[in-house]
Amino acid sequence: MEQQKRYGHFDDQHREYVITDPQTPWPWINYLGNEDFFSLISNTAGGYSFYKDAKFRRITRYRYNNVPMDNGGRYFYIKDGNTVWNPGWKPCKTPLDFYECRHGMSYTRITGHKNGVEASVLFFVPLKKWCEVQKLTLTNQSQEVKRLKLFSFEEWCLWNAATDMENFQRNFSTGEVEIEGSTIYHKTEYRERRNHYAFYHVNTEIQGFDTDRETFVGLYNEFANPDAVMEGKPRNSHAHGWSPIASHYIEVTLQPGESKDFVFLLGYIENEQDKKFSAPQVINKDKAHALIGSLDTTEKVDKAFAELCEYWDALLNIYKVRTGNDKLDRMVNIWNQYQCMVTFNFSRSASFFESGVGRGMGFRDSNQDLVGFVHQIPPRARERIIDIASTQFPDGGCYHQYQPLTKRGNNDIGGGFNDDPCWLIFGTVAYIKETGDFSILDELVPFDNQPGTEVTLFEHLKVSMNHVINNLGPHMLPLIGRADWNDCLNLNCFSWDPNESFQTTENVSEGTKAESLMIAGLFVVTGKEYVALCQKLSSVHRGSASVYETEAERMQQAVDAMIEAVKKHGWDGEWYLRAYDFFGNKIGSNECEEGKIFIESQGWCTMAEIGAEDGMVAKSLDACKKYLECEHGMVLNNPAFSKFIYEYGEISSYPEGYKENAGIFCHNNPWVIIGECLAGRGNDAWNHYAKILPSYVEEKYQTLHKVEPYVNCQMVAGKDAARPGEGKNSWLTGTAAWMWYTVSEFILGIKPDYDGIRIDPCLPETAGDYTVQRKFREAEYNITVHPNGSQKGVKQIVLDGTPIEGSIIPYSVGSHTVEVTM
Ligand code: GLC
Ligand code: GLC
Repeated sequence: MEQQKRYGHFDDQHREYVITDPQTPWPWINYLGNEDFFSLISNTAGGYSFYKDAKFRRITRYRYNNVPMDNGGRYFYIKDGNTVWNPGWKPCKTPLDFYECRHGMSYTRITGHKNGVEASVLFFVPLKKWCEVQKLTLTNQSQEVKRLKLFSFEEWCLWNAATDMENFQRNFSTGEVEIEGSTIYHKTEYRERRNHYAFYHVNTEIQGFDTDRETFVGLYNEFANPDAVMEGKPRNSHAHGWSPIASHYIEVTLQPGESKDFVFLLGYIENEQDKKFSAPQVINKDKAHALIGSLDTTEKVDKAFAELCEYWDALLNIYKVRTGNDKLDRMVNIWNQYQCMVTFNFSRSASFFESGVGRGMGFRDSNQDLVGFVHQIPPRARERIIDIASTQFPDGGCYHQYQPLTKRGNNDIGGGFNDDPCWLIFGTVAYIKETGDFSILDELVPFDNQPGTEVTLFEHLKVSMNHVINNLGPHMLPLIGRADWNDCLNLNCFSWDPNESFQTTENVSEGTKAESLMIAGLFVVTGKEYVALCQKLSSVHRGSASVYETEAERMQQAVDAMIEAVKKHGWDGEWYLRAYDFFGNKIGSNECEEGKIFIESQGWCTMAEIGAEDGMVAKSLDACKKYLECEHGMVLNNPAFSKFIYEYGEISSYPEGYKENAGIFCHNNPWVIIGECLAGRGNDAWNHYAKILPSYVEEKYQTLHKVEPYVNCQMVAGKDAARPGEGKNSWLTGTAAWMWYTVSEFILGIKPDYDGIRIDPCLPETAGDYTVQRKFREAEYNITVHPNGSQKGVKQIVLDGTPIEGSIIPYSVGSHTVEVTM
C-alpha cells in the first residue's frame, strides 16, 4: 500500500490531536462549548458561534462550501513591517515558520511563528458562561524590538442564519452596532423584538476599530488582504446596515524575549424586556460589563480554563480502559467519549457538513446519542428523554424532529417514521440501567407538548410498543411508514418530481403493504428490554406488581409473534430480507437484481438473535462478511443500485457507493459487530470494529479519508464508489454512540444493568489482559479481565477476593476490585 502523507498525530497525554500542516485534506474542526454557547473551530480558526440554536441565534457569520474553503472565522492579523500573517495561516496564507493546531477537549490552541514572533491563541468557551474566550499570547523570540500592528476580526451574523443568507433586501438595512471603549456591540434588531445582543471585547486599550465590513476589507478585496490591515490603518468605521463586523486595532511593542497576553471575548447577552435600554436607543450593557469583568485578566482566564479541564477530567474518569493497545485506549478513553458528548450537544445541527439551518433534533437520533454519554451526565440524559417523549403523539407515533430552542415537534417534517417509537425504550432503559433511577418512569409527560395530556413516561413506553403492534402489515411484520432508520428507503413515496422531498412525500400510503425487517429486529430487541423492565418493576413496585406482570406477558407474546413472523417471512435462505415494498415484493433478497442484501436487518435481527438456534444468525453474519465487507468497513447494501427505482425512493438516487446506496454508513456497522459479539465471534467482531476505528484509519489513510482522523464520520465511500475510503459528514453521527456502546459493553464487556454490572466480554483471541476502571452510581469498580485466549465466556468472577455466582457484579456503594477469568 502506498504511504499516505500525514498532517498530524495524537498526543494522548494531553488528550489532543496535533495538526502540523494547515493545509489538511479538509478543514479539521473542533467544538467549543458544553451547554448554551457553542462554537465550531477549524484548524485555521474558521467557523462560527451560536447560542443554543445554530439557526435562530447565529452570532457570527460563516460561508459554507465557499471558495476558498473554510471562509469566515475569528482572525488575528499581525502586521510586522511589510509582512501580514495569521497564527492559523488563513486567511492571508502567508507561509509560516512554524504552525501547530492542537484540538483538545472543548478547546483549541493554534500557534504560528513568523519572523521571530510567536502568536499562540487559546480558544475555549468557559463553563456556564455565554462567551468564547480567545487568549492571544504574543512573544518576541527575536533579538530586536518588535513593533506590531494587531487587528482582530469577527463578522456578525444577523441572528437567523437562514434569512441572513437570503433576505438581502432587508438585511442590508438593519445592521446596527455600538462602540464603547474596547468593546464593539452588535445590536441588529434589538430595537424591535430581540432582547439579545452580542459583543466583541479585548482587555486592553485599543488604538482604533472597524465595524463596517466594506470599509475594513474593501469591496473587491478578500479576507486575505483587507484594506485597513494592508495599510496598517484602522478606519474607525461605524456600521449602518450592510454587513457589520468587529475589528480591534492594537499597537504592540515587544522587547526581545517579551511576551504579552490579550484576552478577547466574544459574548452573548439577553436582557429582560423592560431592562433592554439604558437610554433611548442605547442598549443596557450591565450584563456585558459583568461578563467582561469576570474574564478580564490572564489569571481569571487561566482559572476558567483550568475549570474546563477539570470538568473533562471528571467526565473521562468514569470509564477508563488500559489494554496496552494505544490505538484502542485513546479512542475509548478520549476521542470516542468526546465525540459522543459533542454529538449529544449538537445533535445533527452544526458541523462543516450540516449548515445548522436544516434540521432540528431527531427523535431517533437523540435517543441513540443518549447511550453514548448517559454514564457521564445522567441528569442531562434524563432531561433529554422527557423533552423527546413530550413530542410524541397519543398513538405512540412521534414527530421525527424537534427544535431545540422551542422543544416543539417540527411540522415541516412531521411524523410517520415507524422505527421512531422503539428508540424511546432504547434510550430510557439505558438511562435507568446506568442510574438505577426508576422514578423517571413516573414523570408526567405530555403528548405533542399539549398541557392537560400528561401521562407517565411509562405510559409513553407502552404506547411506543403498541404503535408497532398496531401497525403490522400482511406478513405480520411492522409497516415501515415513511421510512425506518434508513431515511432513504421510502417505500410509500412515489415521486417523479425533483422538487419533492423524499422524506415528506407520502402520496399513496393508503393500502400499503410496505414492511420493515429492520423494525422487526429493533422491536424484538427493545421488546425484550421492555419485558425485562416490566418484570423488574413488578418486583420493585409491589403494589401494582400484577399490572406489570400482565404487561410483561402481553409484550412477550408480541415479541414471540414477531420472531415467528421473521422466521417465516423474513428469511431469504442466507440472510434476512430487508423489507417488503408497497406491492408486497421482497427487498434485499437474492431474487432481486440489485440490493440483494442490506446491513440493517442483518444487524438488528442478529442482535435480536432471531433464529440463532436454526443457524440463521451465523449465516447472516457470514453473509455480511462475504457480501458487505470491504477494506474500509461494511457497505449498507450490495450490489449498489445503478439506477433510480421509483418504488424505493431516495436510496437509489445516490450514485453507487455513496451514502445510503452502498456507502459504508458507519452508524450501522456496530449493529453487526454486536451481533457478532452476541454470537461469541470475537475475531470477526474485532476485525469489523478496527476497520472503522478512527485511530486505525488515521494511521493508514489520512489523505484518502480526508475528514478528521480523530472522530468517526457518518459515511465512508463504499467499494462500488469512484473513490472507496473517502470519508464525508464528519463528527455528528450516531456512529459515535454506537461505537461506544459496542466497545464498552460488548467487546470489553462492561454492561450496566438494573442490579449491577454485567461482565461479558467478546474479544479477539489475541487480546491480552486488560483493566477497566468504571464509576457506576456511587461505586467504583476496578476490573481486570484475563481472556486467556478465549473469545467469549466468563468462567469466574472474583469480587473483592470472593468468587461470585453468575456474571453480574451486584451493585454496592464503595470501591471494589474485580478479577474476571475467561
Ligand atoms: C442520518 C439521520 C438518521 C438516519 C440515517 C440513515 O444519519 O440523522 O436519522 O437514521 O441518516 O438514513
Ligand atoms: C438524506 C440523507 C440521510 C439523512 C436524511 C435526513 O436523506 O441521505 O442520511 O438521514 O437526509 O436529513
